[in-house]
Amino acid sequence: MKERTLNNGIAIPIVGSGTNTYGKEGNQYRGALRGDTQEIDWAIENGYRHLDCAQAYNNEEVVGEGIRKSFVPREEFFITTKLNTFEGCGGADWARAEIDKSLEKLQTDYVDLFLLHAPWDQDAEMLEAWRILEDYYNRGVFKSIGVSNFKKEHLDLLLEKSNVPPAVNQIKSQVGHWNEDLIAYDKMHGIATVAWSPLGGIDEKARKVLDEIGQPYGKTYAQVVLRYQIERDVIVIPKSHNQERQAQSLDIFDFELTASDRDRIAELG
Ligand code: A2P
Repeated sequence: MKERTLNNGIAIPIVGSGTNTYGKEGNQYRGALRGDTQEIDWAIENGYRHLDCAQAYNNEEVVGEGIRKSFVPREEFFITTKLNTFEGCGGADWARAEIDKSLEKLQTDYVDLFLLHAPWDQDAEMLEAWRILEDYYNRGVFKSIGVSNFKKEHLDLLLEKSNVPPAVNQIKSQVGHWNEDLIAYDKMHGIATVAWSPLGGIDEKARKVLDEIGQPYGKTYAQVVLRYQIERDVIVIPKSHNQERQAQSLDIFDFELTASDRDRIAELG
C-alpha cells in the first residue's frame, strides 16, 4: 500500500477505508450494531490497513473486534478516530474519558491519528481541546493529531496558537465540491488533506464521463475519481458493503490520468 509522510514524519496509507456504516443494520449510519464485523473482515482481507473511525459513528468496537480477529499485528494498521465535537467539547475530564472509551473499544493502547471531528464557535474551548490532543501526542498515545471539517479561519487559530500543528484536515472533497481552495490552503501549511465520501456527488451524467475516461485503462468511474484525488495528493477513505467494490477502490495504482482526463474531471459537477 502506497503511503505518504505527514508533517511529523509519520507514514499514512493514501487509501483507507471509511467505516461509518460498517457493522450496522441495513448498512445505515443510524442503524443498530448487528454484532458482526463482516465489512472490516473483507477490508482487511482485501489489504486495507488504514481504517477511518470516529466516536460519532458509534461503532469503534466493530473495528477493534475486526482487527483483533484478523491476527494481523496492530502495528500494521493505521487507525484514525475522532473526538465527537459536534456539540463542542465538554471540558478536559469529558474529553479524556471519551478518549479512554475509544482506546478501549478499538482494543488498542495508541491511535495513529486522532482528530477533532468538527470545529465549533468557541475559540478558547477549541484551543483547550487541542491542548489535550497535544498532551496525548506528547505522551505517544496519539502518533499524530489533526482536525476534520476545519475551514481556513479555524486552521489559522491552531496554526497561530498550537505547539503541535495539525498533520491532517479531513474534509468533504468529491464531484461537484472539490474544495480546491481549502486543499491548497492545507498544502501551503504542510497539512495533508483527507477526503471523506470521495465517491459521493456522482450523478448519471458525471458517471458517464468518468466511465468513458476509465475505459481505455479498464477502470470504473469510482476508480477514476479515486485516482484523480490521489494524483493531486489527497488521501481517500472510500467505503463499500461489497467486497469486490472494496477491492476495486484499492486497485488504482496501475494507471495514470492524462492532463486532459484531469481537466474533464475537474469540470464535473
Ligand atoms: P456500496 O456499499 O453498495 O458499494 P463514500 O465512501 O464516498 O461515502 O461512498 C460510498 C458509496 O460508494 C457507497 O454507496 C458504496 O456503495 C459506493 N462504492 C464504494 N466503493 C465503490 C466502488 N469501488 N465502485 C462503485 N461504488 C462504490
